[in-house]
Amino acid sequence: MRIVVCRAEDIAVLERFMPSHSVDGSHGARFARQEAGDSSYLIPWLDGLPVGHAEVRWTGCEAPEVRAVQPGCPELNGLFVWPASLRSRGIGTALVRAAEEQALARGTGLMGLGVGDDNPTAARLYARLGYRPTVPYVDRWAYLDVDGVRQECADPCVFLVKDLSSGPLDVKPA
Ligand SMILES: CC(C)(COP(=O)(O)OP(=O)(O)OC[C@H]1O[C@@H](n2cnc3c(N)ncnc32)[C@H](O)[C@@H]1OP(=O)(O)O)[C@@H](O)C(=O)NCCC(=O)NCCS
Repeated sequence: MRIVVCRAEDIAVLERFMPSHSVDGSHGARFARQEAGDSSYLIPWLDGLPVGHAEVRWTGCEAPEVRAVQPGCPELNGLFVWPASLRSRGIGTALVRAAEEQALARGTGLMGLGVGDDNPTAARLYARLGYRPTVPYVDRWAYLDVDGVRQECADPCVFLVKDLSSGPLDVKPA
């Protein structure tokens, strides 16, 4: 498997294998933020196919509750492995590592990410990788339903942060 930052020609392939209905989380929106210098959109490829994604948002989490407590902390957003049969094989961990390496290369000593209160399995993974809870917040996002009507969502989450000063390969027990 190799992890590569998204290229313009990847967007159609990503839409085909991992269609997204999220407005701000579409592949096109994520690529546009990368083009603007606001994020890095990381894609893992296996046997010539995309098998997930993760966006490092250098501008940080958009939630005001998080910005107040963690100003300047980049956010690892949209971590996803697909198809589900490929989960629990280390691809998610490799994406987190790649994001941490990018942060260190930019001289950024922190990485943050949000996890939903209803996602204890992902929270377990992040705890294992050294991420610690900081602040609860509400993740507000929107998607277009089958009729193309915008639907607003609000998910209770916790923002987790890792100090990268000891290096990206530092795995602490949860
Ligand atoms: C969370 C996710 C990105 C992890 O990727 P992965 O390749 O499975 O991760 P790894 O193989 O490196 O680590 C496995 C750990 O991920 C977590 N995990 C596995 N399947 C999961 C799932 N369906 N949902 C959430 N977390 C999961 C577990 O903690 C697992 O540890 P375990 O195998 O000891 O139970 C992936 O499972 C996924 O896409 N889940 C659905 C979307 C999601 O929940 N994204 C996170 C949003 S915060």
